[in-house]
Amino acid sequence: MAEIKDIEVIKTTKSRFDPALLENPGFGVLFSDHMCSMDFSGGRWAAPKIVPFAKIEVSPALTVLHYGQAIFEGLKAFRTKDGRVNIFRPEKYHERMLRSCARLCIPPVDYNDFISGLETLLKTDSVWVPSKRGQALYIRPFIFATDEYLGVKVSDTYKFLIITSPVGAYYKEGINPVRLTTPGEYVRAVKGGLGSAKTPANYAASLLPAEEAKKKGFTQVLWLDAIEKKYVEEVGTMNMFFHIGDELATPSLEGSVLPGVTRDSVIHIAKDWGLKVVERKISIDEVFAASNKGILKEAFGTGTAAVISPVGEICHDNACVTINNGQTGPLSRKLYDYITGMQYGDEPDRYGWVHTING
Ligand code: COI
Repeated sequence: MAEIKDIEVIKTTKSRFDPALLENPGFGVLFSDHMCSMDFSGGRWAAPKIVPFAKIEVSPALTVLHYGQAIFEGLKAFRTKDGRVNIFRPEKYHERMLRSCARLCIPPVDYNDFISGLETLLKTDSVWVPSKRGQALYIRPFIFATDEYLGVKVSDTYKFLIITSPVGAYYKEGINPVRLTTPGEYVRAVKGGLGSAKTPANYAASLLPAEEAKKKGFTQVLWLDAIEKKYVEEVGTMNMFFHIGDELATPSLEGSVLPGVTRDSVIHIAKDWGLKVVERKISIDEVFAASNKGILKEAFGTGTAAVISPVGEICHDNACVTINNGQTGPLSRKLYDYITGMQYGDEPDRYGWVHTING
């Protein structure tokens, strides 16, 4: 059980809050009034504090700007019908953050500091948690190296910030199916590289292929493994699931795929629903063959931002398959309803995943 610490709160004198902002918040464009801030120097993290959301002044020689020593997380808070605020699986996101920290040589942040800072931030900015179904307060914790130095080395100092942003759906399609394409010669990550860490470099690597895909009318890129360019890995903003015959299959985590928290939730839930859930290699040829045989029932992506995002079409090497007639399938819909039901407090929290903020 985490011990929630007393945290210093320095409040803004000028709130930017206006209920009209929550009408149609988009994704990641609005920011709440405060942020949680904590600095690392002299071999230790100082206590977290809540300060007004504001620009930060940095040196042009900041190591993160040159060599990218940084990690981030993304989780969400939800407003329940009775007005409480639920955070979904904060321990699991913190656990992943520690693994990303280890890979990027960043000192770990203690769970008590993480959850105390986050709870205090959410209490301070409670009005920013939207109450409409389909909306949430997206929480972005991140850590970056702050030494001023141009040599390549592990930084001695860091800043940890948590900012929050009221959001609606991540994709313009919402729960409607997205279109994916494999990325030709590009790769996202190799085993032993950074692919399983939540670090900006992976997202930087995805920008050019994603731009090219968007120009061709696709929503996102479906990454294949970097060696054989044969096995499905992930979508960058989400993990992938395929309902083939009686099996719900998802690519196994072999070092180059991000271990998604929504992926983990879907695996638990689908198993409890009696589905045969398998983590294994899935080749793009198998996906096309399953479609041709008529046994590819559904494909969907999972992610914190994307939640459950049905995939209506996949294109690869000048050929395309349409999945479930380009419609949202029953399993995607059921998972979306169940997971969001738990998050908004309408479904019982049978896994102990919901962290309710009291007070
Ligand atoms: C998330 O799902 O939280 C992500 O990190 C995806 C994206 C917005 C970078």
